[in-house]
Amino acid sequence: MDESAGIYLNDRLVSLAEARVSVLDHGFLYGDGVYETMRVYGGVVFMMEEHLARLEKSASLIELRLPKSPRQIKLAIYETLEVCGHKDAYLRVTVSRGEGPIGLDPELCPRPTFFVYAGRLKPPPRDYYEKGITLAMVHTRRNLMEALDPQIKSLNFLNNIMAKAEAKKAGAHEALMLNHRGQLAEGTTSNIFFVAKGALCTPGPGCGILRGITRDVVLGIARRLDMKVVEGEFGEEDILGASEVYITSTIMEVVPVSRFTGGRTKDFPGAGEVTRALMAEYRKEVSSYVENTKAAGPSIWGFTE
Ligand code: PDD
Repeated sequence: MDESAGIYLNDRLVSLAEARVSVLDHGFLYGDGVYETMRVYGGVVFMMEEHLARLEKSASLIELRLPKSPRQIKLAIYETLEVCGHKDAYLRVTVSRGEGPIGLDPELCPRPTFFVYAGRLKPPPRDYYEKGITLAMVHTRRNLMEALDPQIKSLNFLNNIMAKAEAKKAGAHEALMLNHRGQLAEGTTSNIFFVAKGALCTPGPGCGILRGITRDVVLGIARRLDMKVVEGEFGEEDILGASEVYITSTIMEVVPVSRFTGGRTKDFPGAGEVTRALMAEYRKEVSSYVENTKAAGPSIWGFTE
């Protein structure tokens, strides 16, 4: 437990002991709600606008009205960060349907529950970046877009949890899920990229993925570097034929894959040339974002250097 974490519940900052939600909250009963995970660098929330826009989109896709305006959410975030003891932090904003009688009807819950958590960031071990991770193709398929669209970053995470458990059993760090058509989709909390025939490839949004914010940043960098980029439909064969594979996420940034397992196994030489270049450019992008945000100050969350 991170004793120095900041917690904001509904309308105020609370202590960990006070941070209690009803057992009749539909987030707890049904996984009915949405969330965002953000990474805070030196007190600056990286890509905050984009994360808040995605939160709004997820909420609207489940017909949940956010209980606060974007500005109110930002103020809650800054307040929470201020009491949190860390400038490099893990930040999560969660909005559930709220408390209501048992039953599926969203209208049973008049008031969504709003919760911000800011705590110590546990970045992945250095080894991940230096040696790479193992990615396992799992049997669990990514949710059908027409059933529960992966674009919704929802509290209903069992699909990903089951894939993660499978990957763990296979001794892998992350799972690679296929969609119902057998095409590459994404990891349990990450997007996947690979390099093949001189192009940087990644499953397109039509494959049923969460459009990762890190994925978008990396695609922007790749295009700026004049790399050939293909967002499309791919299969396991494409990974087996690739020269480099990596995954992306807000918390992990860009992590090379050194071993792919599944039906067949393939080893990759840790971070290849393209992956290394993108890892470095991503860090530069974060640094300039942090500098620019600080330069645009005075910051309303009151962090001083
Ligand atoms: N996970 N795909 C899924 C299913 C995810 O849950 C995530 C994010 C991503 C990567 O998205 P982004 O680059 O915006 O973080 C892709 C976050 C980190 C989480 O669940 O905590």
